[in-house]
Amino acid sequence: MTEPVRHLYVHLPFCASRCGYCAFVVEVGGLGSRDDYLEALTAELEMEAHRLGAIETVFLGGGTPTLMRPRRLRELLDRVRPLLAPGAEVTVEANPETVDGAQLVELLEAGVTRLSLGVQSFQPSLLATLDRAATPAMARDAATCAREAGFRSLSIDLLFGVPGQTADDLASDMEAAIDIGPDHVSWYELEMKPGSALAASGVPLPDEDLTATAYRDIVERLEAAGYRWYETANYARPGHECRHNLAYWGAADYLGVGIGAVSTVGGRRWRNAPRLEDYVGRLSRGEAPRRTVEVIEGAVARRERWMLGLRLDAPRDLGWAGPPDNPAALDRLAGLGHVESDGGELRLTREGRFVQNAVLGELMEFA
Ligand SMILES: C[S@@+](CC[C@H](N)C(=O)[O-])C[C@H]1O[C@@H](n2cnc3c(N)ncnc32)[C@H](O)[C@@H]1O
Ligand code: SF4
Repeated sequence: MTEPVRHLYVHLPFCASRCGYCAFVVEVGGLGSRDDYLEALTAELEMEAHRLGAIETVFLGGGTPTLMRPRRLRELLDRVRPLLAPGAEVTVEANPETVDGAQLVELLEAGVTRLSLGVQSFQPSLLATLDRAATPAMARDAATCAREAGFRSLSIDLLFGVPGQTADDLASDMEAAIDIGPDHVSWYELEMKPGSALAASGVPLPDEDLTATAYRDIVERLEAAGYRWYETANYARPGHECRHNLAYWGAADYLGVGIGAVSTVGGRRWRNAPRLEDYVGRLSRGEAPRRTVEVIEGAVARRERWMLGLRLDAPRDLGWAGPPDNPAALDRLAGLGHVESDGGELRLTREGRFVQNAVLGELMEFA
């Protein structure tokens, strides 16, 4: 019998269009299937509910969850509410062009505690490169709307390393982001996803030195504005760290429901197949979604813990992570000033965090 699961991810895949850089499991258009999908999702949740204990965090991610009718999201959250631990964090991802005041109030009333707005950039030219629907003004309005509705925890997502992004663009994005006054910022480096329209366009990513400088600039500017660089790509005002993502980085078990959703429970990881009609059909017949399963144990689990644990600024217990594949590398990395250990705990130094992948590559042997 495995421990009860305390973290729930719900995938809401509908999007108005697919952004050129995105390779997530999304369903473009197809809004007519939303109710059938939610019914199937609820059936999967009920099928898996025996695995859940008092849920500490819920994350409604997408796709574009704010394309769902708020009343329907409320019904979904009504099912989850009896399972929530006191003070649970409930996050909803939102695209700025899809939010309005009444909807946000309804989400708050349904028990949502945290809104994560996908801004990506405040530069019209970069938003065009990324195929984003929202203008910078819409992003600002959505943030204002969230505060007026009463959201006390607001996060925004941004990207760096976007083709064509200049140092001036980045400086302007940093000021605009801080000006909005979010409690949390996720600032990711753009990944060129194989099969995405951006990759197919052949446009090159910016030079590595430029992105490395951009990363340092972001860390320094956000820290100066009072945000803690608590994870590789995440920054928070005190008390606003994303507890759901902290659970992932701490290798906690989690349940994911919906198409493409991933679950990791008791050393088994399963991923639901991405096709919506198949998912809806199977659940309507009382069958589990089509899934692929892998076992996460031994060296695979150990390497994953190192990979996740080193993302955080907090020291990690070496007993938790298990020994690295190349223990001799630890002394060398300490000599270079990239890692520091104290008793049984280890962490990356500030400099080490900027070369995290290289440090990890020295310590662990990934296939
Ligand atoms: C899957 S999206 C869902 C949220 C929402 N639909 C949106 O677009 O804002 C969550 C976040 O993933 C990030 N993301 C998506 N594709 C990415 C990529 N290729 N590289 C880096 N980050 C990416 C974006 O910052 C985005 O806000
Ligand atoms: S980035 Fe967000 S809005 Fe764009 S396609 Fe992906 S999930 Fe949908």
